[in-house]
Amino acid sequence: MKRPDLVSVKPLLDGSLPQVYIETYGCQMNVNDSEVVLSILQGAGYSLCGEIGKADLILVNTCSIRDNAEQRVLGRLDVFRQEKLKRKGIVVGVLGCMAERMKEDLLKNPAVDIVAGPDAYRDLPRLVAAVKSDGKQINTILSHEETYADIAPVRMDQNGVSAYISIMRGCNNVCSYCIVPYVRGAERSRDPRSIVKEAETLIQNGYMEINLLGQNVDSYLWEDPVAPSEKVNFARLLEMVAQIDSKVRVRFSTSHPKDMSDAVLHTMSGYPNICSHIHLPVQSGSNEMLEKMNRKYTREGYLERIAKIREILPDCAVTTDVIVGFCGESEEDYAKTISLFEEVKYDGAYMFYYSERPGTKASRHFKDDVPLDVKTERLNGIIALQNRHSLENNQKCVGHRYEVLIEGTSKRSDAELVGRTPQNKTCVFPAKGHKAGEYVTVEVLSCTSATLISEIVD
Ligand code: SAH
Ligand code: SF4
Ligand code: F3S
Repeated sequence: MKRPDLVSVKPLLDGSLPQVYIETYGCQMNVNDSEVVLSILQGAGYSLCGEIGKADLILVNTCSIRDNAEQRVLGRLDVFRQEKLKRKGIVVGVLGCMAERMKEDLLKNPAVDIVAGPDAYRDLPRLVAAVKSDGKQINTILSHEETYADIAPVRMDQNGVSAYISIMRGCNNVCSYCIVPYVRGAERSRDPRSIVKEAETLIQNGYMEINLLGQNVDSYLWEDPVAPSEKVNFARLLEMVAQIDSKVRVRFSTSHPKDMSDAVLHTMSGYPNICSHIHLPVQSGSNEMLEKMNRKYTREGYLERIAKIREILPDCAVTTDVIVGFCGESEEDYAKTISLFEEVKYDGAYMFYYSERPGTKASRHFKDDVPLDVKTERLNGIIALQNRHSLENNQKCVGHRYEVLIEGTSKRSDAELVGRTPQNKTCVFPAKGHKAGEYVTVEVLSCTSATLISEIVD
């Protein structure tokens, strides 16, 4: 039976209400923002729908991180325009980072009725209503305070096992290539009590894994406005969330090499339910590039952080982000990135070639001078290397046992389940009567570079 005080986190699906369709691009924080948006719109009388063809309101939550992310969305706007021509009266809104970056330019697009930046979501019900009476609407005001702390996100992801909680917004780092500080504004940390409450609500709803999100979680710092000496840093927050329920897993991303403290590593080692995985974007292995990127650490400093992780958390997986073909990157610089990858042997990596973003420091001061074919060649080179490392690391898991949290059935067969180890490695295994949300111990029988093929042993 449902507890009377249970706050539902599931979408309300009521065909008699006005229908909103939401499409999301970009990072996990953007996915979580769409959940906040849905919560706000449900409060204004909307119900979620999964088909553009049935929507009264179409929202696209966008990403500006690379040019191709933006091009994809611009392509989608043409599709939404066709839909508007077919069905009069539907409203299309562009949300998120592209809305913030392109502002009025986006509003000129015939498909678009609303442009709303990442801090303007509380205003959406008003904006939608105003479209009907006054035509196109825009709100791209960035805030120094908005964290949506009091809004309970409505979870659109269907697995019901793992959920995101944004613990902060914005970024103060100004890496020279990056658009995020311009489109997401200044960094602000959310009240830890609201984070713990949101985690508790998720757990009451059956969620078994909490992912704490921020562009730089290590700089999370909350000061109690009524007692400013009461501070909560990320290590403490992690502990507070881990203490809620020892059976519930805690993950987090993204860590920043210049800020990741030993205290966080010690907290991880003290709580078995904090998963052994750190995503530590390196971006480049060349000190010259790191300096131009304004990353504020060196190759040596980064490797020292890796050594510390391995000392304190010997079974911890490490993944990264890397950019090749940044302004002025020589063959030597690239070789340094390759050698750093060989030294670290990451468990996984998100790999990109540099995409110049208008208005960033790099776009103003440096020339985007690595030809596209060279960028592509370097990207392919590092992808091939990483695939080898992923495979080698996975091969080391063969014959070992791991505790896996089951997330659902495998894409290939209903008789197989899929879940992840604490190290964030994906396992598939025959179901043997188990289901999503349960923990099982598996033994790894074989692997690919992406998957551990396993069987349940108890
Ligand atoms: N806050 C995180 C990452 C945010 S963006 C951090 O600091 O690590 C995710 C990744 O996109 C970055 O780590 C970087 O590798 C990549 N990225 C950001 N801007 C880019 C650009 N202009 N071109 C190519 N890749 C970029
Ligand atoms: Fe962008 Fe750097 Fe901030 Fe990450 S830390 S979001 S890469 S500016
Ligand atoms: Fe993209 Fe914005 Fe996230 S630019 S990566 S959606 S913060």
